[in-house]
Amino acid sequence: MSGAVPWNEARAQEIIDAHLGLEGPALPILHAIQEEFGYVPEAVVPQLAQSLNISRAEMHGVVTFYHDFRHAPAGRHVLKLCRAESCQSMGSEKIAKDFLERIKLEWGGTANDGSLTVEAIYCLGLCAHSPGALYDGEPIGRVDAEILDELASEAQKS
Ligand code: FES
Repeated sequence: MSGAVPWNEARAQEIIDAHLGLEGPALPILHAIQEEFGYVPEAVVPQLAQSLNISRAEMHGVVTFYHDFRHAPAGRHVLKLCRAESCQSMGSEKIAKDFLERIKLEWGGTANDGSLTVEAIYCLGLCAHSPGALYDGEPIGRVDAEILDELASEAQKS
């Protein structure tokens, strides 16, 4: 289950300030922001741009370029399905597409009841057990339709 805290500008500034001494601080800051709040709110873009002394447009470009960053809060549970080569060779794309159709979501979407967010990930190091997935950070190998349906139903109950 995601343990994110509500958006708080002062806390975001603390996180930014704590990383400013790093070389290339933008990505570490964005990861830390997402870790704290569960997503990267649009509101942090001007704050970050000012702190890093770059334009808002540049900062917005960085945030939207990387698939890792969520732009809205996630559901109570997060399922990441691997879309990289080894998993593709084991049918992951069809398994994922059919699953998303069954639960009426698109990649990155969150169920209306807030139970589950489904995201793509690109290799979990579980290639020997493809197709791989992460459910709330727990690795799962040899994912199939039955496993995914169970996870979706488990997510609804908790
Ligand atoms: S390609 Fe999917 S876990 Fe490596």
